[in-house]
Amino acid sequence: MTSWLGRRSAPLLIGLVAGLLAVALGLLAGSDAAERAGLAARWTARAALPLFLVAFLASTLVRRWPHDLTRALLRRRRQWGLGFALAHTIHLAALAVNVIVYAPGRTWQSLIGGGLAYAMIFAMALTSTDGWQRRLGRWWHRLHLFGIYYIWFIFTASYAGRAFGDDPDKRVVGIVFGLILVAALASRLWPRKRPVDLPDR
Ligand code: HEM
Repeated sequence: MTSWLGRRSAPLLIGLVAGLLAVALGLLAGSDAAERAGLAARWTARAALPLFLVAFLASTLVRRWPHDLTRALLRRRRQWGLGFALAHTIHLAALAVNVIVYAPGRTWQSLIGGGLAYAMIFAMALTSTDGWQRRLGRWWHRLHLFGIYYIWFIFTASYAGRAFGDDPDKRVVGIVFGLILVAALASRLWPRKRPVDLPDR
């Protein structure tokens, strides 16, 4: 298992399968076209979250639990980020159908906030090579640091909106996933123990 997860292609494969499976389940579970599109959008976001959390927490996990598995995740952090980008691109396709065809009229704030997150996701994916890291120098670290926290913020704001909304089912989902995201941030920021010397590839 650890050796399979340590492969370069594993995170991309997991991102692709998770995103497509979420679309397929949404299409099967919905009772009409609008509900199918809504479920596909909702579940593709949910499928992408674990991949984001692996990329977000990779070095934290090794600090707390130094182990072959956590080291394998950290060694492939870049690929976990790309796997997340792939799964979230499938969310983009699902939400485009949902927003354009079935549920137009989203607030401009949510479109700008989510749109900027996609700009960050694609900028990070396109610059995720050693060549771009060298070329951009300290701006590479600024882009990737700002980007990862901004994506965390959009995930957390999406679930906070559900946690404080009127729909009881969405409220439970919002509270559970919102708390997971807050716990992830807390464990990434505190306590900061010894640095990890594995290369971020
Ligand atoms: C302009 C860009 C975006 C639009 C228009 C959009 C639209 C949507 C739609 C239509 C849903 C399904 C709503 C429902 O049925 O409850 C959804 C769910 C969601 N989206 Fe997006 N989205 C965008 C970008 C993003 C980004 C960048 C993130 C995260 C970084 C994100 C995270 C979520 C989350 C967490 C959910 C809820 C999933 C769940 O219920 O578990 N979205 N979005």
